[in-house]
Amino acid sequence: MIFDRVKPLDAILATAEKKPLTRTLGAFQLTMLGVGAVIGTGIFVLTAEAAQKAGPGMMISFIIAGFVCAVAALCYAEMASMVPVSGSAYTYSYAVMGELLAWMVGWALILEYAVAAGAVSVGWSGYMIGILENALHINIPDALVLGPYDGGIINLPAMVIAGLVTWLLVIGTKESAMINAILVMIKIAALTLFVVLALPVMQMQNFEPFAPLGMAGISAAAASIFFAYVGFDAVSTAAEETKNPQRNMPIGLIGSLAICTIFYILVAAGVIGSVGAQPITDAAGNAFAAGSLELSQACAAMGDNAVVCSKEALAWTLRNIGWTQVGNLVGLAATIALPSVILMMMFGQTRIFFVMSRDGLLPAIFSRTHARYHTPHVITMITGVFVALFAAFFPVGKLADISNSGTLFAFLMVSIAVLVLRRTDPNRVRPFRTPLVNVIAPVSVAGCAYLFWSLSVDTKLMFVGWAVVGLIVYFGYSRRRSHVGLGHIEVHEDDSDAPPPPVPPVPSFKS
Ligand code: ALA
Repeated sequence: MIFDRVKPLDAILATAEKKPLTRTLGAFQLTMLGVGAVIGTGIFVLTAEAAQKAGPGMMISFIIAGFVCAVAALCYAEMASMVPVSGSAYTYSYAVMGELLAWMVGWALILEYAVAAGAVSVGWSGYMIGILENALHINIPDALVLGPYDGGIINLPAMVIAGLVTWLLVIGTKESAMINAILVMIKIAALTLFVVLALPVMQMQNFEPFAPLGMAGISAAAASIFFAYVGFDAVSTAAEETKNPQRNMPIGLIGSLAICTIFYILVAAGVIGSVGAQPITDAAGNAFAAGSLELSQACAAMGDNAVVCSKEALAWTLRNIGWTQVGNLVGLAATIALPSVILMMMFGQTRIFFVMSRDGLLPAIFSRTHARYHTPHVITMITGVFVALFAAFFPVGKLADISNSGTLFAFLMVSIAVLVLRRTDPNRVRPFRTPLVNVIAPVSVAGCAYLFWSLSVDTKLMFVGWAVVGLIVYFGYSRRRSHVGLGHIEVHEDDSDAPPPPVPPVPSFKS
């Protein structure tokens, strides 16, 4: 039997029970936590990608992706409140659906976190270069700041930021609650400024045709722009520190997603209405694939004179409607704020590897911590090398799509796990219960499957290839070494061997 190995939920919970967490979070803090974790490359950069896929119809794509995230978030929150330990979706799946599926979820989470960190690094690079060129008039050859798909050779700035964040994680840098709060404010201020300046110059004819590539384009853009909402799991995982979670958790989750969705739609409307956002097509009228070399060549031929060609869509838009300095300022805001998203993503990755290694599924060296810094330095450096390589050679949109495939798979599995556990263990205490679970969980499963299906064929094939490699590693290495398989059910007292998070789970706005 291959579905026989389940890690007992009680053993997992014993890990959490000793955690001295106090319930301090209210609805407002949770909402801010979500907004801070979510806003990043998706809205600042991928808006251009979404425009190439859907044109003005990308506004609908933002709503679809936000809705799927909201229902998935409600399922995630039930699991997070019941199983408040490291490893998120991987750990939940281990308890409910067994080791093999948990392994597949953990393997998919590598895509979610490490590849996403690469995507955000590339996004950061676009804004950084924009500032150097537009504000400081320093021109760096494209060959060194763009990957091969974008017409360059290597994206050095993206590599450098990935390396820098790796180093910060190795030495155990913690982002203080204060800095976290400031970064949230910077991001919100930048988006607000954008909306305030772009909406008044909106021209309704820019919304025509609204859906040049039809529903297929809108769905493809939704699958990509889903990346803009990733990170809300930060709210779900704070369930244990939440006062009255049954009331505050849905407010925090839905509230932060609603705020982001409203901002995203307004920003999208600002981009479309002010500078136009129609896809670039070839002579026969077929839209170029977003993130393709053909598109970057077509863009170069037209002097990069369209928002879909921009690597810093929001700054580009502002400069093109006459707000050059404000455009640079918004670029600066993105340059300052995005590294914290990379930090969160890379940290998430090391934490998943750490837990999988502690379960025996990955080599023990992965969970070795540094004598002085107490960080899992080996796995952090390995992760850093891969993130830097992704960032150096792949375009942001491709990385985001690949990351989405892993995330959607994990969310789908968690939504199934919630339903399974309601039936197999109905009486267990659930600090937060997904409302209308028999409706919400199936809708979440269907929504994740629909978005996954809407990803490009390349991305889906990549996911399948990755899953096959995962199965080979599992049956070739992990299965024989699994601690559960060997009969050791470990209880890691208070998770004290786990490295501390880089950001305190509670961004206190008082400090
Ligand atoms: N939602 C995060 C971003 O857009 C991952 O950068």
